[in-house]
Amino acid sequence: ASSVASAAIVEHSFHVKNLTLRRLCGEQVITAVNGSLPGPTIRVREGDTLVVHVFNKSPYNLTIHWHGIFQKLSGWADGPNMVTQCPILPGSSYTYKFKVIKQEGTLWWHAHVSTLRATVYGALIIRPRSGHSYPFPKPDKEVPILLGEWWNANIIDVENQALATGAGPNNSDAYTINGRPGDLYPCSQNQIYKLKVERGKTYMLRIINAALNNQLFFKIANHKMKVVAVDASYTKPYITDVVVTGPGMTTDVLLIADQPVGSYYMAASPYASAAGVPFDNTTTRGILIYEGSTSATPIMPLMPATNDTPTAHKFYSNLTGLAGGPHWIPVPRHVDEHMFITVGLGLEPCGGNATCQGPFGQRLSASMNNKSFQFPTSLSMLQAFFFNVGGIYTPNFPDKPPVKFDYTNSNISNDQSLLFAPKSTSVKVLKYNSTVQIVLQNTALIVVENHPIHLHGFNFHVLAQGFGNYDPVNDPKKFNLVNPQMRNTIGVPVGGWAVIRFKANNPGVWIMHCHLDAHLPWGLATAFVVQNGPTPRSTLPPPPADLPKC
Ligand code: C2O
Repeated sequence: ASSVASAAIVEHSFHVKNLTLRRLCGEQVITAVNGSLPGPTIRVREGDTLVVHVFNKSPYNLTIHWHGIFQKLSGWADGPNMVTQCPILPGSSYTYKFKVIKQEGTLWWHAHVSTLRATVYGALIIRPRSGHSYPFPKPDKEVPILLGEWWNANIIDVENQALATGAGPNNSDAYTINGRPGDLYPCSQNQIYKLKVERGKTYMLRIINAALNNQLFFKIANHKMKVVAVDASYTKPYITDVVVTGPGMTTDVLLIADQPVGSYYMAASPYASAAGVPFDNTTTRGILIYEGSTSATPIMPLMPATNDTPTAHKFYSNLTGLAGGPHWIPVPRHVDEHMFITVGLGLEPCGGNATCQGPFGQRLSASMNNKSFQFPTSLSMLQAFFFNVGGIYTPNFPDKPPVKFDYTNSNISNDQSLLFAPKSTSVKVLKYNSTVQIVLQNTALIVVENHPIHLHGFNFHVLAQGFGNYDPVNDPKKFNLVNPQMRNTIGVPVGGWAVIRFKANNPGVWIMHCHLDAHLPWGLATAFVVQNGPTPRSTLPPPPADLPKC
């Protein structure tokens, strides 16, 4: 009863509208929440109910996704456009209401329509319920660190141009820490994030990668960090001098201000796993300033090279879960559904006599198991599921790719059927409470890179990850079934694979997609339709009355 008594209702209003901001050397009109970039930080305790009234005063269609929230029996609040809802039209509103249960740590919220999340994002912090504590000594202070990107152009124009030409989107003009580019960019001496610390105290940095299209290295000069959670799931403490993070991921670290009084740069620079893909090779930095510091020139950390896959892999693969800790879930041992899903880019025919600027004069595209996902336009998939409307999605997503090939070999591009994956609305239907294991295998068609694959509605266990083609005989021997990390986003190693496992205990429609923003409209996605359970408590309730209409 005490835990019921301690649960609260936390209410926010999001006014989403144009904001003129000065960044780098000019002004730009962006879409922002409550007039700030990043948007408001939401703080709840585990067990609370979060209610957010979203008023769309922007000129664009809008939805908000609560990235990493399970949305147990509240799928109507998940937010991906045309998956769980139709968009909130300009001038309209929608109230997202859901309980935050059985997860603690750092998550975030962001727009989930077109590419608006470039500026519509913020932190969502879940602390233990009152009377409960962290599985580590309480830090003296907690600080959200949101890594982002800044464009000197209108972000919707950037996306539209990419879609029109068939090429990749233009690179951003800067990376940012808490919305600020830092002093390595033009006109940005004063646009730098500063964190004041007191010597001897412990700070929890809640690091969120809200960048659109880049994985990032994050370092603080002369300081080590202790990772205690990823994706709002506790980890066995892991000490590192570099954090590697893909779009969508969060990393909670403890930082002890144990160095001589002074000032130290914190910096983020790209981990661009792919050879041949253009990326923004710049560095954003902020300053950690000790109380009493008089030093004028902060110390700069040495950043890893942009293609430093060994450093990225070491960090990603050394993380383990805090078995037995708060909200720990043991790995389900029996698997009901075995899936093998290829993940990668491809092409779409340019069409007509148009000229496209993608590879080979075609348009860039992407697929899972050779199906390039297309979002419906007339009704959301969750409404189709709930009201049993046909023709919105197709329940035939294959458990493996159509043919087996050497996924590390880019020279099969003469196989046109694999290169030009057909457009599809294909989804996988799962029985309630079934356990699913998925081998995610990157392909090398067009380009080979690390894809951060995000699953809505669940955390999964990461059983193993590696390079090359997945070996079904020997790689299962490497599975960590004891204390694997639990996450909602996995960076599938460049030219490699990762194995995840989760229990489909949440009825609804849950998209799984690459969190490199450009890859979503290209089709690097599918969805799981999890059937209702046998009782009302395992069945999705009806939509709220204000669910936007299409
Ligand atoms: Cu953070 Cu489907 O997204």
